[in-house]
Amino acid sequence: MQVSYRNRFRLLLNPVIQMKATQAWRLVMKDMQMMLASRERGHLKKPTWIIILVSLVSIFLVLAYVYPRQNSTACYALSSNSCEAISIWLPPLPARELTDDEIASRVVIRDILKTAPMISINSKIAFLFLTPGALPFEMLWDKFFQGHEGRFSVYVHASRNKPVHFSRYFINREIRSDEVAWGTISMVDAEKRLLANALKDPDNQHFVLLSDSCIPLHDFDYVYNYLMYTNISFVDCFEDPGPHGSGRYSEHMLPEVEKKDFRKGAQWFTMKRLHAIIVMADSLYYTKFRDYCKPGMDGRNCYSDEHYFPSFFNMVDPAGIANWSVTHVDWSERKWHPKSYQAQDVTYELIRNITSITDSVHVTSDEKMEIQIRPCLWNGNQRPCYLFARKFLPETIDKLMLLYPNYTSSN
Ligand SMILES: *[C@@H]1O[C@H](CO)[C@@H](O)[C@H](O)[C@H]1NC(C)=O
Ligand SMILES: *[C@@H]1O[C@H](CO)[C@@H](O)[C@H](O)[C@H]1NC(C)=O
Ligand SMILES: *[C@@H]1O[C@H](CO)[C@@H](O)[C@H](O)[C@H]1NC(C)=O
Ligand SMILES: *[C@@H]1O[C@H](CO)[C@@H](O)[C@H](O)[C@H]1NC(C)=O
Repeated sequence: MQVSYRNRFRLLLNPVIQMKATQAWRLVMKDMQMMLASRERGHLKKPTWIIILVSLVSIFLVLAYVYPRQNSTACYALSSNSCEAISIWLPPLPARELTDDEIASRVVIRDILKTAPMISINSKIAFLFLTPGALPFEMLWDKFFQGHEGRFSVYVHASRNKPVHFSRYFINREIRSDEVAWGTISMVDAEKRLLANALKDPDNQHFVLLSDSCIPLHDFDYVYNYLMYTNISFVDCFEDPGPHGSGRYSEHMLPEVEKKDFRKGAQWFTMKRLHAIIVMADSLYYTKFRDYCKPGMDGRNCYSDEHYFPSFFNMVDPAGIANWSVTHVDWSERKWHPKSYQAQDVTYELIRNITSITDSVHVTSDEKMEIQIRPCLWNGNQRPCYLFARKFLPETIDKLMLLYPNYTSSN
């Protein structure tokens, strides 16, 4: 008990404490140097500096009494032999105390994440289609799935109109849906509804969120192996200090979600089973984003579907996510919406260009427009980043059906 308790605090508080400890140490050293220097120059009369010293010692004693636990945690954090000696006179570190909800949430999440994943011969990938209505690329997906029965399952959340299906893989795969309003928590609710329904099947080990404008860039085996034989989720996540990133943060999310934890990312994720389960288990952080990350919050627009999952995973399992999305989208036109591909754009070369990208790129929304480029690392090796792409207009279907055998044969 004691060990895990301390470990938890170490995990949560270590970086903060180390930073604060260093700052405090520097402050104390500065004070001492100033005092000594003053004394040498003889500017301070003896009683004055004795008073200062006595006050410093008293302040320290009072603080040490008020924050006994943080002090011992700090000692743990410093983890050196000199720790005892330092902790005798180092000013204690006022660290944030976790709320009851936070402690409860963190223990549940931590224990779930410790469960060993069970990849079996029956392991399936769940393809979750989030669409307002029709699925224009159903027949392309049908081609993609053909011959791989038993290794995938399909779920469709149609929020506006009930689509007519042409593929046997899609017939009767609709789940009960609800309205989805762009940029609101209802988008996250629909994603959670898809995850919950797919989790009912214990063979589903990895979950992929797709839209009606998404297409596959590789054949089924490539996608299956890419997602199944790694232990991370492909959740897009980066720190954007600009107005479309941290500028959307609201202090109403305190104390559980601090501004430094706020992240941004595209909504199109893939998630391993344990991550889908912690999403189901989370109500604390979900509620914060539902209530305080929405259009018009504090006079700004915040979109939960771009911030909840990136921030949540960044807080509870940062090393468990890839930080990029395996669904490609072209923002190079720098408009409000990404490029929509028309029939004339769809060529073998376009697909080859997208599938040969091996670096993920994020651009901050502040005036610096800082470009962050990171290699797409799959189990430590640089690999193509993308398995899927959007946004393709329905008119591209014929060309894509013709091209599909070509661009998937060179995997
Ligand atoms: C994703 O980013 C987090 C925080 O920056 C980092 O700790 C983590 O290692 C990254 N994930 C991978 C797979 O590199
Ligand atoms: C994933 O597995 C590798 C070894 O294959 C391990 O080093 C790494 O810590 C694991 N990551 C997570 C998030 O479990
Ligand atoms: C593919 O990439 C090359 C090299 O960057 C570029 O010149 C070409 O225009 C791209 N073609 C398409 C269709 O995007
Ligand atoms: C696709 O493959 C067929 C048969 O190999 C070939 O005739 C055709 O030119 C290819 N199309 C493209 C766009 O590469």
